[in-house]
Amino acid sequence: MNNGIFITIEGGEGSGKTTLIERLAHTMQQRGQIAVTTREPGGIPIAEQIRSVILDRSHTGMDARTEALLYAAARRQHLVEKVAPALQAGQIVICDRFVDSSLAYQGYARELGMEEVWSINRFAIGDWMPQLTVYLDIDPSVGLNRISRASEREVNRLDLESLAFHKRVREGYRELLKRYPERIVRVDAEGTPEQVFADVLAVVDARFKGFFANDTN
Ligand code: TYD
Repeated sequence: MNNGIFITIEGGEGSGKTTLIERLAHTMQQRGQIAVTTREPGGIPIAEQIRSVILDRSHTGMDARTEALLYAAARRQHLVEKVAPALQAGQIVICDRFVDSSLAYQGYARELGMEEVWSINRFAIGDWMPQLTVYLDIDPSVGLNRISRASEREVNRLDLESLAFHKRVREGYRELLKRYPERIVRVDAEGTPEQVFADVLAVVDARFKGFFANDTN
């Protein structure tokens, strides 16, 4: 059973998820909460190995369904080994991407269909869904431009997709915002990191007022 808080952060390339998650976890830890940060695909050794198969730039022949199944497999293992135990222990889990990435990238942008992709993911995750998903929205040309300037970031197979693909990913997320208005909140990610962080923290605090009620600040 989920006694904790499961938050997922979604967004296109260069939307600033990594920095944001670090800051969010730091703030929660300062408040005395235990916040576990993790990422998909990956987060634990088996899933990191699946990640390297999926994102290997030489794997240009990977079939779209194979790709979707591998993301779902990595998700399952990561959920069972890391996410679910932390939630069962009452901790806060902040995860960089989860099922919505598969729905937007494989379901919508790769045109496998959101329903089809949802059904394999339902098999993988059962009833484990985030209570809150923050979608960091950025124009893909701005996002891709950001990552091309960040030389330390390795360029993976999905980054090499066309701008048109990344625009479809954004449309996919917009569709998800319409389908799950209770769970997914859009935050504009084109502002400064400070602004984006302040906006996200406000969303998180508003959503989990009761849980944070005993905090000192
Ligand atoms: P990563 O380097 O973690 O990118 P980012 O910093 O943008 O999260 O690479 C993950 C890539 O995998 C990213 O392009 C999004 C893609 N992805 C999917 O297509 N489907 C999924 O289910 C997940 C979790 C990620």
